[in-house]
Amino acid sequence: MNKYKIAVFVGSLRKESLNLKTAKALMALAPESLSLELVSIGELPLFNEDLEETPPREWEDFRAKIRAADGLLFVTPEYNRSVPGVLKNAIDVGSRPYGENSWDGKPGAVVSVSPGSISGFGANHHLRQSLVFVNVPAMAQPEAYLGDAASLFDESGNLTNDSTKDFLKSFMEAFAKWVDTNTKKQAA
Ligand code: FNR
Repeated sequence: MNKYKIAVFVGSLRKESLNLKTAKALMALAPESLSLELVSIGELPLFNEDLEETPPREWEDFRAKIRAADGLLFVTPEYNRSVPGVLKNAIDVGSRPYGENSWDGKPGAVVSVSPGSISGFGANHHLRQSLVFVNVPAMAQPEAYLGDAASLFDESGNLTNDSTKDFLKSFMEAFAKWVDTNTKKQAA
């Protein structure tokens, strides 16, 4: 079976990141039709259009990874009611140089994760706003806001309750359909 290649982006650089733990859980729960790979964003030099004359190798490699993907999964914390700078930088790097937007047309999905009760809603929707501009059709439903996330994992990073596991599994099943539908639509 041909699998869809999904690039996974995590908006936190912390070793013990709850978002990274969630991303790993999502990857483990994904259906067979998806092949998922974490793409690191922490080493990307800050976007500066002056550098486009000789783009940093990290930008080139990152853009190539986006272009090679069939779909995009974003798992993000909320910083000050928005997307962490490191993830916004990655979006900006991938969107340029002008006319060569690597994100263009790739189906995506957004999950926000927070130890708080508002569950990263602000970051989730700020990210969706940027995705509209870079032409990533982001899955509308189901939405995924994981709140109180510190209680969701044990010390080894495993999910502690079945209802979250079931929800994340159904989220990934819906995402697989979203990728399939959008890919076929574009090919038609
Ligand atoms: C936060 N945090 C936070 N949480 C939230 O729900 N809404 C917010 O606006 C913010 N703002 C914020 C700003 C900054 C600069 C930091 C460092 C943190 C708390 C945040 O959700 C918490 O640190 C998470 O654990 C971050 O995600 P990871 O690193 O665990 O994946």
